[in-house]
Amino acid sequence: MKILLLGKNGQVGWELQRSLAPLGELVALDRHAVDGLCGDLSNLDALRAAIRQLKPDVIVNAAAYTAVDKAESDVELADRVNSQASRLMAEEALILDAWLIHYSTDYVFSGEGSTPWCEGDAVAPVNQYGVSKLAGEQAITASGCKHLIFRTSWVYGARGNNFAKTMLRLAKDRETLSVIADQVGAPTGADLIADVTALAIRQVLQQPKLAGLYHLAASGEVSWHGYARHVIEFARSHGEQLAVAAINPIDTTAYPTPARRPLNSRLNTRKLRDNFSLHLPDWQSGVTRMLREVLNK
Ligand SMILES: NC(=O)c1ccc[n+]([C@@H]2O[C@H](COP(=O)([O-])OP(=O)(O)OC[C@H]3O[C@@H](n4cnc5c(N)ncnc54)[C@H](OP(=O)(O)O)[C@@H]3O)[C@@H](O)[C@H]2O)c1
Repeated sequence: MKILLLGKNGQVGWELQRSLAPLGELVALDRHAVDGLCGDLSNLDALRAAIRQLKPDVIVNAAAYTAVDKAESDVELADRVNSQASRLMAEEALILDAWLIHYSTDYVFSGEGSTPWCEGDAVAPVNQYGVSKLAGEQAITASGCKHLIFRTSWVYGARGNNFAKTMLRLAKDRETLSVIADQVGAPTGADLIADVTALAIRQVLQQPKLAGLYHLAASGEVSWHGYARHVIEFARSHGEQLAVAAINPIDTTAYPTPARRPLNSRLNTRKLRDNFSLHLPDWQSGVTRMLREVLNK
């Protein structure tokens, strides 16, 4: 089986390089061309040519325009990468009879209320990133290709920057931190997403009727403020010297950004757990593991 992975150096893409490797021959690309194969999602003609040349059995698309605030003013590029490239991959997957595995976001929802979103709930993105991601998933669904789409939220990886590392850095020098307390979700490890992806691919190849749209996030819920407190308390209890004395909760309105953020990022993952017989660990276990890696504890 030949697998084409796009976006190999993103948080999820990096972990997919590990989790997909035992499934088959893996060709992993970033935006730069390798051996004449272009993995740049903004270059639609070259991307199509790469897929036609490679003829994969499975395309896993971990690449995306993820700069949420920048997308407000960079609408065309966000649309090309998140929507038009997804449509193209779906068209090519249909021709090849290949599977397309894709990721989307809770930002397709309005963020209202406090009930965890189900797959069938009404979509109403509040920013351009959400609009472009929604267009991407709709194009895949409409194409008729065999697909799995995983909507996830609040993704972190041990590699690169993440919210926890930012909090730890700030807590070293500052006595007070102000962190948003009215946005709620579940911090979800890129490693968990990658592992679930590999397991789901194995299963859907045997049972194609499992194809479709799924919510994938760690269990439980927390605000950014609660997440920050968890990180600081863990670090302190494991010997880190931190200056911070107070972590103040603030509302989203006190921290204006170019793109609006949904307040309710909770995802109901029952469909994924039931259909694939999977257990999704609570967010604390994944965050603790990441902190142990980052802090070398
Ligand atoms: N991060 C989150 O909190 C979050 C939440 C919900 C859903 N998601 C979704 O989960 C998926 C994985 O996200 P992630 O957290 O792994 O994102 P990420 O770390 O930002 O990685 C995205 C990757 O896409 C690549 N990329 C951007 N534009 C590209 C282009 N034109 N051609 C090729 N590659 C391009 C980036 O490459 P460069 O490094 O070269 O720019 C980067 O490696 C995405 O579909 C995202 O929308 C993420």
